[in-house]
Amino acid sequence: MAVSLPESLSETHFEWLGSRYVGKVRDSYVRNGLRVLIATDRLSAFDRNITTVPGKGQVLTKLANYWFERSSSIVENHVVAVPDPCVMIGKEAAIIPVEVVVRGYLAGSAWRDYSAGSPVSGVRLPSGMREFQQLSEPIITPSTKEPMGRHDVPISEREIVDKGIVQPEVWEQVRSHALALFAMASKDVMGRGLLFADTKYEFGIVDGRVVLADEIHTLDSSRFWVAESYEQRLRDGEAPEMLDKEPIRRWLMERGFKGDGPVPSIPEAYRAELVTHYIKSFERITGTECQIDTSPPHARIEHNLRAYFNA
Ligand SMILES: Nc1ncnc2c1ncn2[C@@H]1O[C@H](COP(=O)(O)OP(=O)(O)OP(=O)(O)O)[C@@H](O)[C@H]1O
Ligand SMILES: [Mg+2]
Repeated sequence: MAVSLPESLSETHFEWLGSRYVGKVRDSYVRNGLRVLIATDRLSAFDRNITTVPGKGQVLTKLANYWFERSSSIVENHVVAVPDPCVMIGKEAAIIPVEVVVRGYLAGSAWRDYSAGSPVSGVRLPSGMREFQQLSEPIITPSTKEPMGRHDVPISEREIVDKGIVQPEVWEQVRSHALALFAMASKDVMGRGLLFADTKYEFGIVDGRVVLADEIHTLDSSRFWVAESYEQRLRDGEAPEMLDKEPIRRWLMERGFKGDGPVPSIPEAYRAELVTHYIKSFERITGTECQIDTSPPHARIEHNLRAYFNA
């Protein structure tokens, strides 16, 4: 089948904008106390770049923006402007060096630790739980934020405070914000037939205040499952139907890839499927239509950023 996909944004080079930091999926620039986060179309899995999915950067920016707006009464966030469908400008924050993972279900790395008999970031869970099972209440299972190329390491809340990584009173605020955000989104998506399995937040300090930074509740940071089929699938020994990155992880694992060695090449037809998956997931999660701007992304972003900064 011939597939024709719009141009994708794989990297950016806006030297005029400021100093550049290249993350796994976003390129960010620091300018005048602002953090310009450009969501590229890069798809990462197992901490490796796998391919690009045209439109992914836009879908993720829209999702993050949707949730930042929905959650602004719970916690202050870093957002200043969204001058382009894949650009979010935030106040530059001193990022707290902990990935604040919240889980409502036992899945992913938590399941791997649990089934190996280990506590999950210091949390001891009851014995006899099954993969994908709901936890009796959401738990926080933090990990350290490691530099690119290194895997994040689980850490307990106690260690975070005892090692002085975060002041106890700051951690208290972080954990209560994280749990409140998770509860809000769980309830929200439940109304649209979805289960909010887990997510990860980054907080920072701006002018001495704890502020929600980075992105929230996107398909890169979160797992969403279809509620309707959940019970039956578990009874059949199958994984839940997922609106997140898990399908591509599974696709790669079926081809023997778990992060080491050459990345299998992704057929165009499968990339096209991934594009649709991202768009449909957005619509399911937010209950609103997802319009993708198909103009060549690099020129469009440059134009929008120059207009924003008067540069
Ligand atoms: N308001 C902010 N102020 C400062 N840094 C921010 C802010 N919001 C997000 N960031 C940082 O911008 C980067 C976003 O890049 P991306 O998520 O693609 O990278 P990453 O591979 O996750 O990198 P890292 O491992 O450093 O998080 C992250 O390092 C994140 O911590
Ligand atoms: Mg990140």
